[in-house]
Amino acid sequence: MKKGWKYFFELFALGLFIITLTGCPDPPDPPDPFVTTPYEFPLKINGRQWFPTELYIPSNNPTTVEGVKLGRYLFYDGRLSGRVECDSQMSCATCHKQKYSFECGMDDPRFPGGKPRGIPSTGYPDGKPTPHFMLPMINLVFNQNGYLWNGKVNRSNPALGAAPYGIPAEQPYNMTNLESLVWMGIAAPHEMNGSPQKTVDMIKSIAIYPPMFKAAFGTEDVTYERISKAIAQFVRTLVSSNSKFHQWVRHETTLTPQELNGYQLYMSEAADCFHCHGDPVLLTTNNFYNNGLDTVFSDPGDRYGYTKDNMDIGRYKATTLINIELTGPYMHDGRFKTLEEVIDHYSEGVHYSQTIDPLMKYVAFGGTQLTESEKADLLAFLKTFTDHDFITNPEFSKPADLDTGCD
Ligand code: HEC
Ligand code: HEC
Repeated sequence: MKKGWKYFFELFALGLFIITLTGCPDPPDPPDPFVTTPYEFPLKINGRQWFPTELYIPSNNPTTVEGVKLGRYLFYDGRLSGRVECDSQMSCATCHKQKYSFECGMDDPRFPGGKPRGIPSTGYPDGKPTPHFMLPMINLVFNQNGYLWNGKVNRSNPALGAAPYGIPAEQPYNMTNLESLVWMGIAAPHEMNGSPQKTVDMIKSIAIYPPMFKAAFGTEDVTYERISKAIAQFVRTLVSSNSKFHQWVRHETTLTPQELNGYQLYMSEAADCFHCHGDPVLLTTNNFYNNGLDTVFSDPGDRYGYTKDNMDIGRYKATTLINIELTGPYMHDGRFKTLEEVIDHYSEGVHYSQTIDPLMKYVAFGGTQLTESEKADLLAFLKTFTDHDFITNPEFSKPADLDTGCD
């Protein structure tokens, strides 16, 4: 008995000794709570409401500071194509360049005439051309009517079942919102010409990304769905409100007499631009019209190609005119290289067809018949739509520390 107690005390002392050496076993740490910071859209300017308050954001992808940051890196990372060779890297920014208001411009040797092409199997300028010319990325979060020239990606689309490019059937991926355009951009043969799996494997293997996925979505898992969500979040932040025209609307600056004259023409029946591009904040209605480019329409990608409604033959989205000076060539088929040619079209090149928009009132005269000096005034006014802050905003630019090994 005595011996037993001795052993007990010895063991007890030994235990105390070990505990002193190693410290008490701690209970396991609770997992880090997953917190993100909501992204605040700059809807007010100088304390006053500027933008529409209704934002088009799917409920399963709220915009967060962490998601936007990840999306910005991915948007600019050529390895999103699933390849590392410099001639096969392609990102959203290969075609959507900030300096051209997120269009591709006319000076890229890979894209002759400003018509983009997908990654070629052999080498540029081969590669499958995109069906249409570029659209800019401006204020898309306020567009409730549909993305792309024909509005095919929009909130009214039903669940379409098996979708192209492996897009999941459920919303918002299946052709209802920006998320689905990311899936298309990566897989379409006329864009990155890749595959979801190649892209996921590639992004997973780049050390900077898993921690950014954790910050944005709670775990380090890199999935295609998360890639599409993050890029869509970044694209929603690309808002523009600071052109000279916008500053003038807010009484922050003045227009020259010539620009003011152009404004009068634009906002009246004289030149008649306001019906379709007149919203003073967005400079578009985001609606679809036939603006008299042709007599016969054969492009399968017009609005009719999507709705199959005869009234939609030859209809396309009236794009925003913000930054229009930077985004040539113009129209869905890039037929006009300069704004002068665009003005000539509306002035004397309008063609009649069954579906021409009733707002094109001067079609019987071929257009509004502007004088040379009116054309010059209108052009001067269109140039006040350029937002220099938007095209130089560092928050929209390529992250300085993103190194993909290529230019
Ligand atoms: C090869 C060039 C190319 C690449 C790469 C590309 N795009 Fe585009 N993008 C286009 C063209 C061309 C259009 C106009 C297509 C149409 O409407 O027919 C377009 C249209 C869009 C639009 C619609 C804008 C609007 O006003 O409706 C969005 C959004 C968009 N792209 C996002 C992306 C994203 C995000 C990526 C990267 C995942 C991407 N694009 C990669 C060429 C490209
Ligand atoms: C009836 C509606 C309507 C009216 C009025 C109208 N537009 Fe348009 N505009 C459109 C549509 C639709 C498109 C796209 C057409 C296409 O690409 O096929 C367009 C395209 C444009 C483009 C090219 C956009 C791009 O991104 O390539 C410019 C520039 C333009 N319009 C300027 C004007 C000017 C300036 C006026 C007045 C002189 C005017 N528009 C009047 C509907 C209209």
